[in-house]
Amino acid sequence: MSTKSWIFDVQRRDYQSRNSFLHIFIWTLSFQAEAIISSKQMDKEYLGIGGLGEFTKSCAQLAFGNDAEVLKSGRNITVQTISGTGSLRIGGNFLSRFHGGPRDVYLPKPSWGNHTPIFKDAGMQLKGYRYYDPSTCGFDFTGALDDISKIPEQSVIMLHACAHNPTGVDPRPEQWKEISDIVKKRNLLVFFDMAYQGFASGDIDRDAWAVRYFVEQGHNILLSQSFAKNMGLYGERVGGFTVVCKDAEEAKRVESQLKILIRPIYSNPPMNGARIAATILNTPDLYSVWLGEVKEMAERIIRMREELAAGLKKEGSSKNWQHVIDQIGMFCFTGLKPDQVERLTKEFSVYMTKDGRISMAGVTSGNVGYLAQGIHAVTK
Ligand SMILES: Cc1ncc(COP(=O)(O)O)c(C=O)c1O
Repeated sequence: MSTKSWIFDVQRRDYQSRNSFLHIFIWTLSFQAEAIISSKQMDKEYLGIGGLGEFTKSCAQLAFGNDAEVLKSGRNITVQTISGTGSLRIGGNFLSRFHGGPRDVYLPKPSWGNHTPIFKDAGMQLKGYRYYDPSTCGFDFTGALDDISKIPEQSVIMLHACAHNPTGVDPRPEQWKEISDIVKKRNLLVFFDMAYQGFASGDIDRDAWAVRYFVEQGHNILLSQSFAKNMGLYGERVGGFTVVCKDAEEAKRVESQLKILIRPIYSNPPMNGARIAATILNTPDLYSVWLGEVKEMAERIIRMREELAAGLKKEGSSKNWQHVIDQIGMFCFTGLKPDQVERLTKEFSVYMTKDGRISMAGVTSGNVGYLAQGIHAVTK
């Protein structure tokens, strides 16, 4: 089984018991796109430095919405990148070379483990702002606002657009609004990382809400996108990096500088994955199947969260597991301590990261009962 299909594999097993037609459909979506591509017998020439135009256009539309002002006025520049990681690194290099403000990038505490080395290697310095509250297993909204209000002006702030990794804790829309206000007051440069569009709510527009809201509020953001998770294109390395500029003329200048940055790193990005993503995004039938799949995936994860919390209750746990339901996206920060995680591994052969994070994509109707049994045993 290839890594590419891992999430879908997990999905498939569950679908198989409920709906074998859907299972077949899901399995074949990227193959359908590849069949269309193959039938066109296209060449394998180099792409341009900024990638496949068809892809970058659709990538920006997915993030900002088809009718977004920013796209109409052409004040965005979007380049194809080596998935989300490559996008963040190009962003880091861009900041390192051109950002006029402090060299500090403020990450939520905690953040995705690779953020720190990516920005450090790009020559930036890492700082943090409070984000996760271990006492509630939820968002430390007051702490976040307090810390953000003290960030030196013109610093860079990293925000996870949705389905925060590793905590599964996202701000609510009214909280995003306050974050936007304070970020504006501090004159900070926002870098959004959107690696899970569609995975949080199952609705690609809803998951892009914060990104779109910030742009509407006048933030000229940087944006990283990944198609690894939401299209299952892990190994194809498909992503996009966008800079929203003040006008189309500035966007042209930024584009030329991004090309100067990219050229000596990898010359130009790979084409196959970008063709697959562009085909899915631009073929109405495939696009609607994809939207349905994303919805199914998110709904299945939400269902597993509910079943896990219910299972813990059924086992007799008197602890409050509401955070398992309230958190969103692929990851669940269970609140388990390292010694409990160790017991779970040793006694139940259940594996998770030491910080108690579970990938909910790996939880199925077949194993959720056993997982609840194990978690209850080590937490009672
Ligand atoms: C928050 C976040 N950003 C970016 C990425 C980048 O992933 P990729 O390089 O596979 O697109 C990930 C992957 O786990 C992630 O969780």
